Amino acid sequence: MKIRAVGENANILFFVGKKYEGKTYLAKHMLKKVKQYLMWDENREHDDMGTVTTRLQDVILLWNMKKRKVVYQPPTEKKTQQGFNEFCLIALMLSNAVIYCEEVRLYAQSNKIPINFARLMDSGRFRGLGIWCTSRRMLRLAAEIPYNADHIFAFKQKRVKDLEALKDYIDEDVVDQIPNLPKYHFVHYIDETGTAYIHKPI
Ligand SMILES: Nc1ncnc2c1ncn2[C@@H]1O[C@H](COP(=O)(O)OP(=O)(O)O)[C@@H](O)[C@H]1O
Ligand SMILES: [Mg+2]
Repeated sequence: MKIRAVGENANILFFVGKKYEGKTYLAKHMLKKVKQYLMWDENREHDDMGTVTTRLQDVILLWNMKKRKVVYQPPTEKKTQQGFNEFCLIALMLSNAVIYCEEVRLYAQSNKIPINFARLMDSGRFRGLGIWCTSRRMLRLAAEIPYNADHIFAFKQKRVKDLEALKDYIDEDVVDQIPNLPKYHFVHYIDETGTAYIHKPI
């Protein structure tokens, strides 16, 4: 699959589906080919991906020290919309990197999208920033995310409202197969061509 991770017109990627279906696994598989990234590690599961910090102010320090694979693990009191907004402000100071956000549904809901996250999605590509987001559900998720996504990776999910929301982007015939996807299979939707196809586990 052709993905522009960083640089001019860096892509926005969206991974959606039930838990344990392989969203993080696929995202990490692709992220391992990227040289510069900043992760919002919601569940502290990415210790292996780079330099870990729980202090946002360290992100810029690390970056300036040429540590360009940075895993931010927000402390509990920062797992708020404001904390996420502060993270996005730091992300906006970087360039040519992937900004990877786990469980973004917790912080970017319909009508309540943090301003700096909106800025990231609107203008991140001008700084060479790719934005990669995971979410378990479409429901109540800020529509800006699937709407702006260059690639959507949809894993198994069954709730009718989530599937209906996916049909705004992906062909109905393909979405109808999502509830029956075998484990770790996923639908890959490419916005540029408007096409979607079922992908075997990577
Ligand atoms: N394609 C795959 N091949 C083998 N194991 C996988 C694959 N995708 C996911 N897994 C495993 O399944 C578990 C759940 O995957 P994960 O990516 O964490 O799910 P999610 O992020 O959707 O909750 C993990 O232990 C992961 O290693
Ligand atoms: Mg995950």
